[in-house]
Amino acid sequence: MLVSPAMNESISVQPGPILLDPGYPLPGSIRRPDYRPGEREALIREIRALLEARDAVLVAHYYTDEDLQMIADETGGTVADSLEMARFGNRHKATTLVVAGVRFMGETAKILNPEKRVLMPTLEAECSLDLGCPPAEFIPFCDANPDRTVVVYANTCAEVKARADWVVTSSIAVDVVNHLQARGERILWAPDRYLGNYIQRVSGADMLLWQASCIVHERFKAEALQNLAKHHPDAAILVHPESPEAVIELADVVGSTTRLIKAVRELDNMKFIVATDNGIFYKMKQAAPDKTFMEAPSAGEGATCESCAHCPWMAMNHLRNLAEVLRNGTNEIHVPVDIGRKALKATQRMVEFAAASK
Ligand code: 13P
Ligand code: SF4
Repeated sequence: MLVSPAMNESISVQPGPILLDPGYPLPGSIRRPDYRPGEREALIREIRALLEARDAVLVAHYYTDEDLQMIADETGGTVADSLEMARFGNRHKATTLVVAGVRFMGETAKILNPEKRVLMPTLEAECSLDLGCPPAEFIPFCDANPDRTVVVYANTCAEVKARADWVVTSSIAVDVVNHLQARGERILWAPDRYLGNYIQRVSGADMLLWQASCIVHERFKAEALQNLAKHHPDAAILVHPESPEAVIELADVVGSTTRLIKAVRELDNMKFIVATDNGIFYKMKQAAPDKTFMEAPSAGEGATCESCAHCPWMAMNHLRNLAEVLRNGTNEIHVPVDIGRKALKATQRMVEFAAASK
């Protein structure tokens, strides 16, 4: 078993051990490929032309390589958080969606758009939350708690979504849980224990939490963050809610990637300490070119850090494999029809809830 679900039934959640050895291999490097002279520019030109020729649109997450974000922006695609990525693919008329991110993002696009072709630069880009919530363990856990409404984070596989009543992303999770709580529902939440804990604290809902975590966000360190903040008392601290509680407690703003970018634009501060994947700096710098951004400290001094402030799976997306899938139509996402149909119900609920709460 990769991760043990919490067996606590109480509202105050008992945190389990942090998974330093999660039991699955991490991709080796978070560095972008060493492009040969002229290769990068040639690939960018080729990708632009192929997107048009293949009636394809690029949908990229904020954590991906900035070249991919730049191409998505400049070719009529989008760079977005998980919720907006899902919604954009649904709205856009292109017959092929090219999703740069991690596998669950491609699967979500396919679930919402079964008639479209969904390609990804790599099919090996995982997510520790998805890996930490295997259906063979999650489904019996739900079956053992039939009185609870099952709410899962989008960072899960199609089979887990198919067992859920609701799919949510970080930008909408609190609103959905508030809504369910107002209807008197008790919740089974999976997979991120930190996000679950955070939602529980702000909503006061009765939540039973699965105990997976994000290998990037769980490594942010509260004490080191406090020390850094002492040296920069004028900096605002921005934290993604997949981070540990002690880190969230230090935040001026807690929210999804989109919320954090909005904060950079709206707050008067000229400096920001950011506890999320550093791929987000590309958009933050665009949003506020005169401001300064610092990574929140993670993992401690001298650590060999394969996931410090950058997701090693997101880093597997680059110009070479993006060009390759557009050339050859490889790396197509398939979701079995029956699973896709069931997963669509819970995913569509999220999309409709988001539209209604605008
Ligand atoms: P957002 O939905 O906030 O973009 O988060 C997705 C994710 O994977 C964060 O690690
Ligand atoms: Fe998953 Fe964390 Fe990577 Fe996001 S940053 S894709 S939650 S491992």
